[in-house]
Amino acid sequence: MPLRLHCRGFVSDCFVMEGLMSLYYAALFLHIVGALGLFAALALEWAGLSNLRRARSVGQFRDWAGLLQGLRRVGGPSGLTLLVTGIYLTVTRWGSQPWIILGLIGLVTMVVLGAVVTGRRLASMAKELSGEGALSPALRRQLQDPVLLLSAWLRTGIGLGVVALMSAKPGLGGSLIILGGAAFLGFATGLAAGAWGRRTFSVATESADS
Ligand code: HEM
Repeated sequence: MPLRLHCRGFVSDCFVMEGLMSLYYAALFLHIVGALGLFAALALEWAGLSNLRRARSVGQFRDWAGLLQGLRRVGGPSGLTLLVTGIYLTVTRWGSQPWIILGLIGLVTMVVLGAVVTGRRLASMAKELSGEGALSPALRRQLQDPVLLLSAWLRTGIGLGVVALMSAKPGLGGSLIILGGAAFLGFATGLAAGAWGRRTFSVATESADS
């Protein structure tokens, strides 16, 4: 529903209304820029993760883990922009709505999963790194940790679910179905991808050993 300006009062009142509308559209623009930033960070995470899982040397590990750890500089400001502009859009126009509350829960879940699940695992692997040359078999096995894939898939599902919520703006039932369905699809795909990754890794190491 677009905002329309029906100003029949004093000219000064019309200027104030126009100013507020421009602010609203500026906030909406920034909100969408924040969403683009969040998905850019997710896309870089996917690229980093798939290369990291194939890393054979300490140098390759450092390069890709460095990219993944640096994603905080894109994802953090994007998340903050989404939150601040989202609160402004909510307060100035929409008030409390189920799709907004679930969107907020989705955003917080994405941030927590990224920092606690993925961030901590990468940091603890990076700590085990020493010297140069080939990666230790223990570290190569840790890189196949299915939870890393699960976390990335789940956040992708939730992110897409939140975009669907923001676009359709449904009631409580619709919002729960959309976000729950998207999170479930992300979770199920992540589980399948993790199991498949583990299986191909053990087949590859078994054939390398024999
Ligand atoms: C993962 C997080 C989020 C993403 C990807 C996202 C994305 C979007 C997108 C793409 C739109 C434009 C939809 C349209 O114009 O039809 C939008 C609108 C909106 N978002 Fe978000 N958003 C997120 C989080 C939030 C949060 C946390 C809040 C509130 C605290 C919020 C509040 C709003 C509001 C009120 C609108 C409606 C603006 C309008 O149509 O006038 N969003 N969001």
